[in-house]
Amino acid sequence: MKTIIEPFRIKTVEPLRHTTPEQRRLLLEEAGYNLFLIPAADILIDLLTDSGTSAMSTEQWAAMMRGDESYAGSDSFFRFREAVRNLTGFRHVIPTHQGRAAERILFSVLCRPGHLVPNNTHFDTTRANIEFTGARAVDLPIPEAADTQARIPFKGNMDVEALQRLIRETGPARIPLVMLTVTNNSGGGLPVSMRNIEDVHAVCRGHGIPLYLDACRFAENAYFIQQYEPGFAANSPKQIAQKMFSLADGCTFSAKKDAFANIGGFLCTNDDRLAEQETNLLILTEGFPTYGGLAGRDLEAIAVGLEEVLDPDYLRYRMASVTYLGRHIADNGVPIVEPPGGHAVYIDAGRMLPHIPRSQFPAQALAVELYRHAGIRSVEIGSLMFGDEARHELLRLAIPRRVYTQSHIDYVVEAILEVHERRDSLRGFQIVSQPKFLRHFTCRLRPL
Ligand code: F0G
Repeated sequence: MKTIIEPFRIKTVEPLRHTTPEQRRLLLEEAGYNLFLIPAADILIDLLTDSGTSAMSTEQWAAMMRGDESYAGSDSFFRFREAVRNLTGFRHVIPTHQGRAAERILFSVLCRPGHLVPNNTHFDTTRANIEFTGARAVDLPIPEAADTQARIPFKGNMDVEALQRLIRETGPARIPLVMLTVTNNSGGGLPVSMRNIEDVHAVCRGHGIPLYLDACRFAENAYFIQQYEPGFAANSPKQIAQKMFSLADGCTFSAKKDAFANIGGFLCTNDDRLAEQETNLLILTEGFPTYGGLAGRDLEAIAVGLEEVLDPDYLRYRMASVTYLGRHIADNGVPIVEPPGGHAVYIDAGRMLPHIPRSQFPAQALAVELYRHAGIRSVEIGSLMFGDEARHELLRLAIPRRVYTQSHIDYVVEAILEVHERRDSLRGFQIVSQPKFLRHFTCRLRPL
């Protein structure tokens, strides 16, 4: 059979609420044209993020009933730790309430002013947490990533030569760790090849610098490797994922993505001394080391999710549905980051709306119009999110896992093509108020 179906059936449903374009116009005005500030009940299709928005399985819900809520030494922790160890091979597994808590703890221990932390591309929270310590976050994507239209399979890779140059110029002592984000979210959700992980690992090892994976979407990355990297077709996604982790010294992880959990994360290392320092910080703000800011039931949901996400049928469907959206809009003229990513399709709004300058946030203009037109929420990944560090002006359509069906996606395709038809009429925006860090969450804007 050619048709790839959703490898699940639906047992519980949530209604969606329609609003009119006029209601949405008023909602936008009230929210300062910031889609983070619009109540979710007023969104029809929510593609803001794939984070924490997954539908959980019957097995996850069943496991949650087993959740042991003991303050210390809960059964759920031991099941969680076993699942994480089995996947990653890391000795120390520190639960956190989500990925950025793991980042904050790791960087607080390792980073100081004057330090640099290279990554293929930092996500906004890793960048902000690094810079909060006084260190500098440096993006080293491969040169091909600059061309959103180049169709190469492992466009999420790190530029290994640039990494070597950076280490030579600054000296390894100022680089407390190197990170690889799999998949490369801010770079289009595109994967990193095993070869690239091996090469970065070799450079790091040569200089005694630890390598960390920002592993939120490790399973999607493993599936890309299985499909497109020579030599891996016969390996299971789980074997590939295990090999990816085996090349790293530790990881940060948001369980809100590839663990199908609505909350949670963890930090891993094999370094006993580091683990002790990290655990001390954990107790200060997250909680006792066997729950780290999570309920026992959350730990259970993560343990089951880490297994489920590596099911080849699930991964095949996942990639097929994201590619379906990407190909349908791109083949009708909408410039996307090619090829489509693992969890999202990114529209190159800079290319689609050349009449709106970067300083007027073209991707935000597109996000606002897509919501006004069809009730679809997406997110700007460009100058609004990253300021001067932005490499592109992208609009991300992130697909929550196991949540929307093909007709929902068809609706999204139709809406995007309609907005694309009259793209020349879209106008830019200006910021009227903003906080110091992560301004895209709460800033308010004004149409120009
Ligand atoms: N690293 C990456 C690559 C991410 O995509 C995210 C979150 C985090 C770290 C932080 O994890 O949210 O659990 O604290 N990304 C979400 C997104 C928010 O929409 O892409 P968190």
